[in-house]
Amino acid sequence: MKHISIAIDGPAGAGKSTIAKKVAKDLGFIYVDTGAMYRAMALYFIQNSIKAEESDRIEAACDHINVSIQYENQVQQVLLNGENVNHLIRTDEVGQMASASSVNAKVRLKLVELQRCLAADSNVVMDGRDIGTYVLPDADIKIYMTAGVKERAARRYSEYADKGIACDVLQIEKEIRERDERDMNRDFAPLKQAEDAIYLDTSELTIDEVVARIKDLYKNKVEV
Ligand code: DC
Repeated sequence: MKHISIAIDGPAGAGKSTIAKKVAKDLGFIYVDTGAMYRAMALYFIQNSIKAEESDRIEAACDHINVSIQYENQVQQVLLNGENVNHLIRTDEVGQMASASSVNAKVRLKLVELQRCLAADSNVVMDGRDIGTYVLPDADIKIYMTAGVKERAARRYSEYADKGIACDVLQIEKEIRERDERDMNRDFAPLKQAEDAIYLDTSELTIDEVVARIKDLYKNKVEV
């Protein structure tokens, strides 16, 4: 049986994971957070004092890394060499390292197979940077989700503030710009809108409005 896949790509802080999680829950699909997989690899590099520019060491390390996922109460857990690292990967340091190390084709190819297998086995909502363009070029629905950089920085800032984490909105904005620049300009599978993706700017939309729009797209697709 062919499974349905919804691909959501876009830059950091556009709201992809919040939206993808809700759409997946409402439709009874599996949510696949591919950024978490790149973050798990980045964590390995950090823990082993490997710098992003040391491409030989990164490539050699790939042979010692196994990333897998499992679900607990429908929440994706990422395992790095068998250890659940979900609680260690949500820092800015890991995010920046994930962006910097994921320019490496060997890092990417290691994860693409896992991502494709997940989509072959289940109905998925998968978010990332290259899902509609490279990982699942035949995805049933493709969304390119974005928002203005100031809006994205403000959202990140309030997420941190809610968690009581001290931060500076201008610093967050600077890091988001750096990450966008790198993710959009790498040679292998860069972040860009797939030709058949629907462009969705979430700057002026509520979470529920974005979720409803994607579910409508899905309904129209399956009812055709
Ligand atoms: O979505 P995120 O912030 O968790 O992703 C962290 C980094 O991982 C992102 O800046 C670039 C990389 N990434 C990628 O290159 N391709 C993906 N499909 C997902 C993430």
